[in-house]
Amino acid sequence: MYEEHTLTSAFCFNEPHLKEIVVSGTRPTGHLHLGNYFGAVKSYVAFQDQADCFFFVADYHSLTTHPNPTDLHENVRIILAEYLACGLDPNKVTVYVQSDVPQIAELNLILNMFAHVSELERSTTFKDKVAKQQSNINSGLLTYPVLMAADIIIHKAAKVPVGEDQRQHLEMTRTFANRFNHTFGVDFFPEPEAFSFTDNLVRIPGLDGSTKMSKSAGEKNTISLYEDEASIRKKIMRAKSDSGPTTPNQKKPQEIENLFTLLNAVSTKEVVDFYEQAYNNMQIRYGDLKKQLAEDVVAFTTPFKERIEQIYHDEALLKRVTSEGAEKARFSAEQTMKEVREIIGIRSF
Ligand code: TRP
Repeated sequence: MYEEHTLTSAFCFNEPHLKEIVVSGTRPTGHLHLGNYFGAVKSYVAFQDQADCFFFVADYHSLTTHPNPTDLHENVRIILAEYLACGLDPNKVTVYVQSDVPQIAELNLILNMFAHVSELERSTTFKDKVAKQQSNINSGLLTYPVLMAADIIIHKAAKVPVGEDQRQHLEMTRTFANRFNHTFGVDFFPEPEAFSFTDNLVRIPGLDGSTKMSKSAGEKNTISLYEDEASIRKKIMRAKSDSGPTTPNQKKPQEIENLFTLLNAVSTKEVVDFYEQAYNNMQIRYGDLKKQLAEDVVAFTTPFKERIEQIYHDEALLKRVTSEGAEKARFSAEQTMKEVREIIGIRSF
């Protein structure tokens, strides 16, 4: 499906980066869902023609929950296939698996010396985990933002397309990078920022009436790009709704707002306008709205499913993409690490 290409086709090993550098990653915990797609991966694709992009599968990050080895490998493969199915072109961007780049683990170790325990303890994701995962509060959870910072600054990224929930991690990345610079009196690591193409990037809500589609809220809350038709229909028909507006132009309650947000993401403007109007003049029937939404989600995901299926089974393609990606990512990472070692005084004799 992709042309055979040589490593140098889209990537110049010897030239400085001329374009902006963009880095992002996804933890391999199952299929990408609509929230991942609209919140991040769609942005990755939008960046690929205009920036020097590095998109990876964050397999180290998923180890905090001790996945079984077979599942882990399988899930890495799923994300890779889904990245490509979403339109990432390995001829244009560097697609790789985090653990293929040992320099990231090296920088993680070094950055740990620039992250204060008190800052890490204040992270909302850490506090969430502490509340939910009582029996396994390992230090990998605490230092999760340090590893994430290493992922990002190893390529000296300027922009990081991520969902809204990752903003605090990006702030921490800037703190660690600045502290490193300040400690050594260098202007070495740039300050990366979280970035979304906001017009078409929406925060996709959950089907349970919550504001965020997230796997941690349970399977029923999410729709994956690989979801089968029957399951899409079932989940949407069961999504939370209420008893309907009682006055014209009433403000929508959260769960109805959510259905409209989803409709906006996958349907045409005519369809959205039709239901907006029906809501505003109190003629809306939520059953109809949901049927339409289910129909449009099915139409939206079907082409993804076909491509995922095909790429997932193309072992030769996945092998080629990951080995070329790893080589390109290691090259970039090693450039940074050579300088980092020099700056901190780790020099060979
Ligand atoms: N923490 C991110 C998430 O849960 C995944 C991630 C790991 C990431 N390393 C990253 C995202 C670096 C952007 C950049 O979604």
